[in-house]
Amino acid sequence: MSYTPEMMESIRLVEASRERRYAERHPRLSPAEKQDLLRKFHPDFRPDTMRPVKVGASRGAMMPHELVDVLEARSRLDPDTFPLDRIDYDVDVLVVGGGGAGSSASLMAHAAGVNVLQVTKLRLGDANTMMAQGGIQAADKANDSPMIHYLDVIGGGGFVNKPDLVRALVHDAPLVIKWLEDLGCMFDKEPDGTMVTQHGGGTSRKRMHAARDYSGAEIMRTLRDEVRNRQIPVIEFSPAVELLSDGEGRCTGAVLMNLETKDFFVVRAKTVILATGGFGRLHVAGFPTTNHYGATADGLVMAYRMGANLIFLDATQFHPTGAAYPEQIVGLLITEKVRGLGAQLVNVGGEQFVYPLETRDAVSSAILRECLERGRGSVTETGQHGVWLDSPMIEHIHGDGTIQRALPAMFRQYKRFGIDMRKEPILVYPTLHYQNGGVEISDDTSTCIENLFVAGETSGGVHGRNRLMGNSLLDVVVFGRRAGAAAAERARRVKPGRLTLEHVRRYHGELDEAGIGKDRVSPMVLPSYARRQAMPGADSTVS
Ligand code: FUM
Repeated sequence: MSYTPEMMESIRLVEASRERRYAERHPRLSPAEKQDLLRKFHPDFRPDTMRPVKVGASRGAMMPHELVDVLEARSRLDPDTFPLDRIDYDVDVLVVGGGGAGSSASLMAHAAGVNVLQVTKLRLGDANTMMAQGGIQAADKANDSPMIHYLDVIGGGGFVNKPDLVRALVHDAPLVIKWLEDLGCMFDKEPDGTMVTQHGGGTSRKRMHAARDYSGAEIMRTLRDEVRNRQIPVIEFSPAVELLSDGEGRCTGAVLMNLETKDFFVVRAKTVILATGGFGRLHVAGFPTTNHYGATADGLVMAYRMGANLIFLDATQFHPTGAAYPEQIVGLLITEKVRGLGAQLVNVGGEQFVYPLETRDAVSSAILRECLERGRGSVTETGQHGVWLDSPMIEHIHGDGTIQRALPAMFRQYKRFGIDMRKEPILVYPTLHYQNGGVEISDDTSTCIENLFVAGETSGGVHGRNRLMGNSLLDVVVFGRRAGAAAAERARRVKPGRLTLEHVRRYHGELDEAGIGKDRVSPMVLPSYARRQAMPGADSTVS
């Protein structure tokens, strides 16, 4: 498959302006321009994308409709009849989630000498961590410091991040790189052994460590191998569908559901770590997503029913460069590393319209403005809008062979469809990438619920209203490790508690009082594409 004649006409304009654009640097947005752009074009500011949640600890907080729908829903378990007299698994620490945060947590809890069980909805490693491309940030070079990293994170997050969490993130970052390397993770290096580091959007230093353009797969491989090497028990295809409480507000375990048989299993645990990832597969505001199939906000639902606070969930991250063509890969991630290497964003007339390494919220908004307001995007045969990401600029700047060396997975992905990204630009459009907010945690990942810890994308606060590239892989390892250590330490001091679904009964009562019907059940566990409808302003085609 190659480009249509109309697209080829536009590509010629992109080519014609390349030499001129090579010499120019697009002006950066002033803070006022950025705010204006976000308010006018970012989906978070669209009045039709959110509503206040009517029940629970964060009652009144604005959240995307799709999330409110799963929060304002009934449990899969009837709290009055579900049998809790049989305990199927009895452990010190239960880790729920099979991605980077869950696996880091399991490793640290296991190293602390407690009895750990890790459970996961699909297979160990089936998670957003595995799909991350661009890299992991850490200030470990002479011209950088955790303090500079801290300032970048806070600036990128809109100055509202929780400072203690940011301090933990940037402080642990160099240690985490060393830990991963010691476990066998193969980061890109110069011939003399120093780490290759790149810029991401909103970074003031080159601190993105990568493994080509499959950094997440390399990190997840490393963590998964180690979980297996240490023979930590893992139960796959068994999502948690409800937490258990002692009736006095403490978390005491969880109920799992076997995906195939739909049988339920009861786990009693002294402490529980939720690391179930984010909500990308809810397709907020009708956007396609880069996310893993299992990203259905299950952890948010379960923690919320127990009384957890949810923060910053009115801030969703749309990655500026999701694939917009060909149809088969719409919404998939085109790593920010492509822009980090020098590719510019160019409209249908071959003109650059935004500095390519503004923060993601700003770049996405600029693309939406270019396509929806100014009418300067390209439109494909199926009606998908997009702008050009001028990938040939990378070889123009760094020389032949750079794309195959630095972006081998991306190069192969396009080659399969007859597009040579070394020679032709690729069409992109924003795609739902990340849940900026989540369960409120402290810097040891504890929550307002005793014995419940939350790590990774399920938690909120560290990234404020907008996460920077490379701070997600960092977040999952930093806070996964902290969760494992803290939950193990707590488990030593806790006696196994009573197992009840009292909190679910109470939550159902709140739903009744709010007049919310009984037709919706959550957690969703797996997305249903039969029911989804696109909303105005979003792409109508989902992956
Ligand atoms: O663009 C990317 O490679 C994405 C990285 C991230 O979200 O951290």
